[in-house]
Formats: sequence, C-alpha cells, structure tokens
Amino acid sequence: MLQVIMSNRRDFIRNSVLFAGAISIGSSDAFAQPPMPDHTTEGEAYWSLLRTQFPLSNNKIFLNNGTMGPSPFTVLNEVYQDMLEVDTNGRYGGHEDIAIKALARLLNSKDTEITLTRNVTEGINISCFGLPLKAGDEVILSTHEHVGNATPWLNRAKVHGIVIKAIPLGKTAEETLNIVKSAITKKTKVIALPHIPCTIGQILPVKAICALARERGIFSFVDGAHPPGMLQLDVKDIGCDMYAGCCHKWLMGPKGTGFLYVSENFRNTLQAYYGGGGFDTGWDMLSNPPVLKGYIDNGHRYYYGTQNASLFKGIAKAVEFQENIGRVRIEERVKSLATYLQDQLLHLSQDIEMLTPTEAISRGAQVSFKIKNKDVAKLQTQCNEQKITTRFVAENNINCLRISTHIYNNYKEIDTFLTEVDKFIKA
Ligand SMILES: Cc1ncc(COP(=O)(O)O)c(C=O)c1O
Repeated sequence: MLQVIMSNRRDFIRNSVLFAGAISIGSSDAFAQPPMPDHTTEGEAYWSLLRTQFPLSNNKIFLNNGTMGPSPFTVLNEVYQDMLEVDTNGRYGGHEDIAIKALARLLNSKDTEITLTRNVTEGINISCFGLPLKAGDEVILSTHEHVGNATPWLNRAKVHGIVIKAIPLGKTAEETLNIVKSAITKKTKVIALPHIPCTIGQILPVKAICALARERGIFSFVDGAHPPGMLQLDVKDIGCDMYAGCCHKWLMGPKGTGFLYVSENFRNTLQAYYGGGGFDTGWDMLSNPPVLKGYIDNGHRYYYGTQNASLFKGIAKAVEFQENIGRVRIEERVKSLATYLQDQLLHLSQDIEMLTPTEAISRGAQVSFKIKNKDVAKLQTQCNEQKITTRFVAENNINCLRISTHIYNNYKEIDTFLTEVDKFIKA
C-alpha cells in the first residue's frame, strides 16, 4: 500500500515539476512536453522516447487501452489551453471544423459525413433509432457485443418489436463471413456488427460483410470502438452506411469524445430524432402552425446544442499526434506487440486457451485467452497487485482476460505480464 502511495506520489511530483517548468518559462501549457522523437530513431529507442510523451505512470503497466486510452501531454495541453481561453475571454463554441477535418482525414470520409458525438454508444443509438425499421424486421448482431452495441438494438426491439439475431464469430474471417451469410433471411434489414469486438479482439471482415449487405439491400452499421487509432481506416473502402467510433480509446483523445460517420447517400435514410441548435435549416414558432423547415445537409443533422469546444481541439490534436508518428508505423507496432504476446502465451503452456484467432488478417492489437481449470479473474487480481492493468471480459459469459497493446507499451512489459501468467498457472 505504502509502495502504491509512494509511486503515485512520484508520478504526481514528476508531473508537478513539468507543470512548474511550463509555468516558469512562461508557456501557457499545463505540462512541459519532451520533444517528439526524431523519425530517424530506430527500433525500441524510438518507442521508449515516445513513451515520455505520456503522463501515464511509469510504475504501471497499462494493458487496457481497449477500455480507455491515456492521452499524451500534447492533447492535455491543447484542451487545457483552450478551456483556459474559453473561461478567460468568455468565448462560446468553435473548433468543430478542425475536429471534423481531422476525423475525416482519419477515416477517408468527407467532412460533411462526420457527426461529433460523446462516445461510441451515442453514435450507435443515433444509428439504431434513426433507421426505418418496423416490427418483425431482423437485425444481425453477435454473441460478442459490448453493452454499447447490444442494448440500443435490444431497446429498439422492446420499443418497436424489431427482432435481434445474435450470431457466433468464426475462427477465421471466411468462417465469420459464412456465418453472417447463413443468418440472413428475407426479413434481415440491418447487419450491425463490431469491426473488432470488445471480447476477443479479432478483426472482422467488415468490407466483405458490408458488400454482402449492399448486395442484399440490407443496411450496414459498424461498431468501430477499437480500430480508430489502432488500424489504418478507410470507410469508403469498407463501404458501410454508418460507422460509429470513439476518440478516447486507441486514438488517445479527450475522454467523452466520439464520432459517427454516415455516408452522404445515406443521410436522407437515417432519420434524426433529436432536434436542437445546429441540426436544422430553420424553424419558425411564429408561423401557424409553427414549423421545422428542414434538416441541415451534413453530419450536424445528428447533434445539437452547446458543445465543449476544447474537447474538439483535443480530438484534432490526438489525430495530429498519431499522424506525426505515422499510421502504418502505429499499426505495425501495436500488432507486433500483440503478436509477440500471443505467440509467447501459446508457447508458455498447453493450458492456455487462446480465443483470439491466430490468422494474420484477423489479428489486431488485442489478445484474449483463458486458462484450463482456472479463473482468470483471479489472474487479473494478481496482476493488479503488481500494478499491471488488464481487462477481465465478463460479457456474454466469455470470462477471459483481454490484453491490449498500444504505442506506449514495450516487449519488456509484456514479458513482465507473461511472468505473472506463468506464476499463476504454476500456483
Ligand atoms: C466494441 C465496443 N463497442 C462499444 C463500446 C462503447 O464505447 P463508449 O463507452 O465510447 O460508448 C465499447 C467500449 O469499450 C466497445 O468495446
């Protein structure tokens, strides 16, 4: 316990010193930022320099980016400076455009196709309740859904009588595609699967699934909680009608930020159900009867009212931070850490039940496993005692341990985790 307090104190002092340094040199930054590593720096040296861009405790091994991505100093400074400016000058709003442009670059979409949301769940609700569905229409989900992609559809089933079909996922992309194909009936109106489920981290063949949906006249929605900031993304190539993502996981942006992509030719199909400032082309309470003239012809159709402009600046900064590193470089790094972990686990013991597929096209930056005759929730407790953060997956009774690897992690941290797994198996 004392050790925890001391290590928290050390991080606090480190960050306070950085803060004091920033103040004394007259910078408006909350935290002094070490310079970004030079692009010519190679290998582990590059990644360990990059690690200094994060306030994330050096006494912690954080392997749960899939729940929440710690932001780098540059994002924190951007948000802090803008909040200070808002409250110094009483400024209202702004900065939506830079967040939208950054996200459109990230996704390869048009600016007008981006809706700013507070999280993935909000984008899912906008999509789910905006679709023209009636009682008896079928929606395909999986048995690997997060509460965020399960409950909006289940709620619509309760409210409007749509029918949910939950399919299992295959061990390979081809197998998953075949399972989706065989679940389609004449009543199927939506396929609403995750790009990467929260449970076992496999990459689903979303491009093929969306092509299948298009062919059969079915709406396609993708729960993209995990890929933005982990994988290179191209929503046009995926060919989905809607794609909901967040900025606070792999993108490491401000918490409580997200987006929804709605393809431009789908905008008039997806009805906006919440109204408010910014979503309309005019309204009149003095005419008889009072009228809403129409909906704005861009992604603002689905959000409204006062927003936190400083968070928008933070989103743009988070995208820029990753662009500076390079998308290809990030994807290669995070996958290589996860592949190393998966391979080492498979070598460690015959008792490891690997749930994440080993097929290269299905592997991202998350690895989930169980251990024969053992409760991995207890492994999580053991890891927590060693200040290693993991994610126990209780969803849908899967009961496995999920490990996420991001750019601030390194092989040594993974080895430390593997030592804990080894101890746990032998105990
Ligand atoms: C696959 C998946 N979908 C949706 C969500 C919900 O995300 P948010 O909390 O940003 O709404 C999560 C969060 O972990 C997730 O993993």
